[in-house]
Amino acid sequence: MPTATNVADHLSSNLDAGVQRLIDWLRIPSVGTDPKHAQDTRDAGQWAVDRLREIGIDAELRETGTKDKPGAPIVWAEHAGSADYTGPHVLFYGHYDVQPADPIDLWESAPFEPVIKPAVAGGPGERVVARGASDDKGQVAMFLEALRAWKESTGEVPVKLTILIEGEEESGSVNLENFIRDNAETLKKADFCLISDTGMPGVEQPAITYGVRGLAYTEAILHAGDQDLHSGMWGGRCPNPISELSKILAQLWDENYHVTIPGFYEGVAELSPEMRAQWEALGFDQPAALKKIGLGPEADVGEAGFSAVEREWARPTAEINGIWGGYQGAGAKTVIPSYAGAKVSFRLVDDQDPKKVTQRFFAWLEERTPPGCRWEFDDHGGGPPATTRTDSPYLQAASRALERAAGTSPALIKTGGSIPVVGLFKAMGLETVLMGFGLDDDRVHSPNEKFELACFALGARSHALLIDELMQM
Ligand code: BES
Ligand code: MN
Ligand code: MN
Repeated sequence: MPTATNVADHLSSNLDAGVQRLIDWLRIPSVGTDPKHAQDTRDAGQWAVDRLREIGIDAELRETGTKDKPGAPIVWAEHAGSADYTGPHVLFYGHYDVQPADPIDLWESAPFEPVIKPAVAGGPGERVVARGASDDKGQVAMFLEALRAWKESTGEVPVKLTILIEGEEESGSVNLENFIRDNAETLKKADFCLISDTGMPGVEQPAITYGVRGLAYTEAILHAGDQDLHSGMWGGRCPNPISELSKILAQLWDENYHVTIPGFYEGVAELSPEMRAQWEALGFDQPAALKKIGLGPEADVGEAGFSAVEREWARPTAEINGIWGGYQGAGAKTVIPSYAGAKVSFRLVDDQDPKKVTQRFFAWLEERTPPGCRWEFDDHGGGPPATTRTDSPYLQAASRALERAAGTSPALIKTGGSIPVVGLFKAMGLETVLMGFGLDDDRVHSPNEKFELACFALGARSHALLIDELMQM
């Protein structure tokens, strides 16, 4: 396969230029959830359109949402491939929006001024540090670089493609469902969807992810009196919404970390002994993982009866992601506030239904309304869980490409994270292959997010070789 070798060589010798292109993209603060960054978000989409056009792919920005409530545009392209291409039609999905950079103070360098940091002995390798480096611009950029390498070394991008890169993944893909519905006929023409937005155990151990958890994201505010009160005059004499909310939320789990909402586990399948043995054999080192986040082995906390991997990949959870109320400033202030609130999300598996879970949670709170208080609820959406086929010929092609790129066959893993589009595509009969290159310590969604150059190089090479594998199918 001399052509593929040429492409791979071209890619390695142009890696620096590829990293520079990624850095340009990372400079654009495309914080999708923040209205102040709406134009930046759009610019980041346009950046991808421009890069695709440079390599002869006729990309465009497609608007989403409504006139009154416009969403972030989708980077869209349909590419026929070379005349003699007979392989599968690939739908590539990624996202160019990023999470907010907060808390800014904890960044060692500015989140949108990417820097290359040298390898640390016993720590991370040479890496680019910026918001979006790993999630997901860096991973989309690997795919763009692979296409570029094919174009520059053979004169064309041979593979038949539909490209969909959205700008709202981090805010729950609210407009994507409609876009997918409106374009279902076109999307269904693809044979499978390819995503690089997940991780792998290590740069020496690539992986294919065959399942994502679902998500139901909610917010609940508990209102008490119609004004803030002196806690000396009123403490013990009327409800304190912070105390009441805390008491209620503390009932979300029993002593075994089982979620107590009735019906919550509906649709959750039991783990088969074979699967448990298979996952056990992956040799995931929980104490080492905990150490990397500053915790000792005693912090292996979670639902009783399941290993850390099982808890992450195959068990649903409830998490409080934010909680507020009362005085938050410096020093003391003796006050009983008029309200307190919390953001509570649920990670879901198997056949759990995010909408049902949200309804059940709100009903559960309603039943526990403290005397004199009332709730205000907000549903922030989420997405369904999805497990993908492991016997698909496309997954096998990706597996061969990873083996050629890394010299080791990929591990089959799941992730506890969520990518709503996987479930949306599955519902329309389209399967997904998740070929991701992030590492556990990439600090995604957190300050000092990084993507290691070795991961970037491996990902670009794997995508280039996957195209070669698809051409031979
Ligand atoms: N790329 C992540 C999903 C992910 C995280 C996969 C970790 C593998 C490992 C994605 O961008 C993400 O963050 N998704 C959100 C869900 C979304 C609906 C806000 C998540 O999982 O919290
Ligand atoms: Mn992502
Ligand atoms: Mn993310």
